[in-house]
Amino acid sequence: MKACQQLAITQFGQPSVLAIQSSDVPVASDSQVLVKVAYAGVNPIDAKTRAGLGWAAQQNQDNLPWVPGYDIAGEVVEVGVGVKALKVGDAVSGFVGFPLLGGGYSEYVAVEADVLSRVSKAVSLVEAAALPLAGQTAWQALDKGLVSADEEVLILAGAGGVGHIAIQLAVARGAKVTASCSAANMTFVSSLGATAVDYHQAPLFKQIKPVDVLIDLMGGDTGIAALDCVKTGGRVVTIPTITADAVCEQARQRGLLADGMLVSPSVEQNNAMMGMLESGDLQLSIAAQYPLSEGASAHQDIETGHTRGKVVLVVDGDI
Ligand SMILES: NC(=O)c1ccc[n+]([C@@H]2O[C@H](COP(=O)([O-])OP(=O)(O)OC[C@H]3O[C@@H](n4cnc5c(N)ncnc54)[C@H](OP(=O)(O)O)[C@@H]3O)[C@@H](O)[C@H]2O)c1
Repeated sequence: MKACQQLAITQFGQPSVLAIQSSDVPVASDSQVLVKVAYAGVNPIDAKTRAGLGWAAQQNQDNLPWVPGYDIAGEVVEVGVGVKALKVGDAVSGFVGFPLLGGGYSEYVAVEADVLSRVSKAVSLVEAAALPLAGQTAWQALDKGLVSADEEVLILAGAGGVGHIAIQLAVARGAKVTASCSAANMTFVSSLGATAVDYHQAPLFKQIKPVDVLIDLMGGDTGIAALDCVKTGGRVVTIPTITADAVCEQARQRGLLADGMLVSPSVEQNNAMMGMLESGDLQLSIAAQYPLSEGASAHQDIETGHTRGKVVLVVDGDI
């Protein structure tokens, strides 16, 4: 039987706890396909789980070594007998195993066929792996915030994985978008269609007019400080789950409508954004690509909190 290389969390701790392990290649059930993974997206939740933080870590603490990774893109190499929509050789991507199973940092993944999007030749597999979790978070945050045409929206962390997609989706809805970033990312954020504001210059409320909606991708004190930028009666969606209760409480005390969220996998949304990538209406920025064996460096990058766009693991770049 062929072996499957995976990058696993061997124990909770520093990035060095990530180690390559070998397992059997999974077998696709009747409703699944086996995907040979070309690229796996890296998200902050992967690093938080590796550090032993959050719900996925709690649930998997007796289940180590555990293979993280929720974003994959690659090629179908085996098809379950009940699968009609995909065939061997199809390029696919998806948001898989969320939140408990993970498993994307792996050469092969067996996955339900109906959670996968086809990747057209016009879209690279790197982009297809970078999109799912961040893209769907951006989409769902704007939905939750009821962001509509002509509204003023402030997006915190506009240069990050979720933020740089959220800006483009909000602009596509016709919203007027302002986004916070550091000086080094002003040109990048502006190029996405937002008015960029440098959060190092002065408190945001001193730099911008009050907005209708705040999409808070920072949480904590940064998220709370940004509440001063929202019009009375305005809306707040705070994305980092760990501080969501605190931000929502402060928001409500200021008369704002506020909610947290947990992204929920949606193949329809992924398909729609794949279409936008294909038509050039969405651009993804890939900050760095690392071989699977150097996943620790990818986690170190993510933990700086200052990557531009997405970080991706190269599992098999020849696909
Ligand atoms: N609830 C959910 O379902 C869900 C889903 C996805 C993500 N999340 C969470 O949402 C957060 C954002 O995720 P992500 O993938 O976009 O993270 P990310 O890619 O790691 O974000 C990095 C970006 O944050 C920016 N940044 C850092 N400090 C900042 C500050 N004080 N003000 C403005 N921007 C700042 C950096 O820009 P500069 O270098 O210019 O500072 C950098 O580009 C994370 O906490 C993640 O865990 C939650």
